[in-house]
Amino acid sequence: MHSEQIHALLSEMTTEEKIGELFQIPSYFFDGDNATGPAAEIGITDEDIRVAGSCLSITGAAKIRQIQENHISKHPHHIPMMFMADVINGFKTIFPIPLAQGCTFDPGLAEKCASIAAAEATASGIHVNFSPMADLVQDPRWGRVMESTGEDAYLNGLFAAAMVRGYQGPYNNLTEKGKLASCLKHFAGYGAPLGGRDYNTVELSQRTLREDYLPAYKAAVDAGCALVMTSFNTLDRIPSSGNRWLMRDILRGEMGFDGVLISDWAALHELYIHGIAQDHSQAAELAMQAGVDIDMSSPVYIKHLKALIDSGKIPMSMVDEAVLRVLTLKNKLGLFENPYKDASETDEQELILCQAHREAAREFAEKSFVLLKNVDDLLPLKNTENVAFIGPYADNNLLSGAWSFFGDDMDCVTVKDGILNRFPEGKFSFAPGCPIVDPGIEVLGFQKKPPNDPTDPTSALEEAISLASKADKVVLLLGEHREYTGEGASKADISLPACQLQLLREVRKVNPNICVVLFGGRPLDLREVVRHAQSILFAWLPGIEGGNALANVLFGDRAPGGKLTMSFPYCVGQIPVFYNHMNTGRPFFGDYRKERYASQYLDIPNQPLFPFGYGLTYTTFSCSEIELDKNIFSAGDAIHATVQVTNTGSRIGSETLQLYIRDLAGSVTRPVRQLKGFQKVTLQPGGTAKVTFQITEEMLRFYDIHMNYTSEPGDFHLFIGFDSAAENTAKFTLL
Ligand code: NOJ
Repeated sequence: MHSEQIHALLSEMTTEEKIGELFQIPSYFFDGDNATGPAAEIGITDEDIRVAGSCLSITGAAKIRQIQENHISKHPHHIPMMFMADVINGFKTIFPIPLAQGCTFDPGLAEKCASIAAAEATASGIHVNFSPMADLVQDPRWGRVMESTGEDAYLNGLFAAAMVRGYQGPYNNLTEKGKLASCLKHFAGYGAPLGGRDYNTVELSQRTLREDYLPAYKAAVDAGCALVMTSFNTLDRIPSSGNRWLMRDILRGEMGFDGVLISDWAALHELYIHGIAQDHSQAAELAMQAGVDIDMSSPVYIKHLKALIDSGKIPMSMVDEAVLRVLTLKNKLGLFENPYKDASETDEQELILCQAHREAAREFAEKSFVLLKNVDDLLPLKNTENVAFIGPYADNNLLSGAWSFFGDDMDCVTVKDGILNRFPEGKFSFAPGCPIVDPGIEVLGFQKKPPNDPTDPTSALEEAISLASKADKVVLLLGEHREYTGEGASKADISLPACQLQLLREVRKVNPNICVVLFGGRPLDLREVVRHAQSILFAWLPGIEGGNALANVLFGDRAPGGKLTMSFPYCVGQIPVFYNHMNTGRPFFGDYRKERYASQYLDIPNQPLFPFGYGLTYTTFSCSEIELDKNIFSAGDAIHATVQVTNTGSRIGSETLQLYIRDLAGSVTRPVRQLKGFQKVTLQPGGTAKVTFQITEEMLRFYDIHMNYTSEPGDFHLFIGFDSAAENTAKFTLL
């Protein structure tokens, strides 16, 4: 349709039809036609459903075609619905969780896998995907850290933009086959709930919000994401869905976002629960004033906007603006010409879980694993060794993460399957060793227990000890149940379940050659694991090809190359711990047991157990001192910093060189270092390469004392190395 036709359509629509466009129904509110029980409970009628503009969480080409056909035939103006869903790390071909994706430091791979997810989801009838989540995260107690790419604004921005490109295509042409509209979330600051408790209050200074939290959202907006979702939390005590300043001034005004703004699930209703609206009517008024276009799954707009318009509290022009944005998105998706878009049962058959998609999932998983420790080269394993694979993840198909609703666990390759696929003749044994959660604890969520979870913990432990005592090496496959991360999955204790730690201790008594492979969606307290294990590999929730990927990495067909994008805390008491903190007036470097009156704890170190950017591989690298082509420069000019990297080990390998910069004095305090670039090198044993980073004035900008985004002349330190604790440094000056 031409835009004049959209305007003409708008002018013909009744108020009820307009409000319908702003109402999104969840799948379980209707049977494809009429309102069902839960909808009726909150007053949603068949008439409301008849004019609803979009629908959440229905998939399947045949089903969506039928619902759409029915909807269009009954809608007074035959306007098609948009079908939206959460396709977070893959549709049916499930990739590693986003936090693991970040560890690849490879946004190009994230883009590729997002485009695969889009191809599968669109074949199944989806038009809009609620991804990427660009929330910066610093608190592993928060279960949703698994959906973020980590604690760094710059890296998160690269990944968020890459995912938008993957979903929408390089030209943001949403009519293109296999592309869908990307919805950035959760605007803003959802990743900073106090105490790591989901949905909790967020307290960020405007400076921190602008400097650390907004840039990743901005990167996705600049990449052209078609929608943005409001967050559940408050900022400055104002819930986002009623925050006019945040939505109209910052998002639309400063960031230039002109797409559709959708609330999170029932967030308009929650304006009343938060206590900034006395009832649903006032909630509707606040959200409209704030510029929220679509109300997801609450009755607030559909039941109250009409009266607000009639009473003059909300001008029709404001509603028209919102409806126009929704109709424009439908038009961009080509739905007026083809309301089914790419829904095709044939494509579903051919595309979903095809070999190429599985291969991409395997590659992504292999690259996301992070090797945290590897004493005496316990890894890689040899296929001639007698290895006991023990633990609740030894033969567990729950490898997909909490947001993989559309995936089927039966498609997941378990560790046992992956190893036997690779070495059918290997001298390996497999046993669960203990249950995945401590006995007596009920897992709240969608999937209760892995298929092979033992019912008799005592005999499971005995069997494990017996196998371990006979093995050359033991690989312990431990970790959190996938439902312990995701939405509504905050935890105060982030160590492994007691039964798993007991398994580790008992096995350690009979065999010291232990590699612990960890699964889960958050950084864990690994102090005890570090004490007992010779080798530790963090495998996250790797998706459907997890078992094959792990077999390749454990036996050295591939080398682990992931780098942490969230610091692993020493213990919970240290949270939040992140690499780009301020120096404070009393920074602390010494022995915490011997000093006082510095910014420190008396009982634990300040450093995390494993810092941001950290990750080993099967070979070792050295990095020369930094050479600068000049050490003074001014805006418009650049400095080039070069290091010589050498593979000092005996295997071919890759390393991720990281550039960090510290501004030594600013008009406001500056972080002790910030990631500004990274490059990967692959070298043969003994091989060496020069790596050069360019430093420009733009990279030194920040929000100054007057809140201007600018650089300030002065001295800077730069660091180049293999993680955020790199000490290799040089100094330069900006004139
Ligand atoms: C609530 C979650 O916060 C959001 O991320 C998700 O997209 C919606 N539910 C829809 O499922």
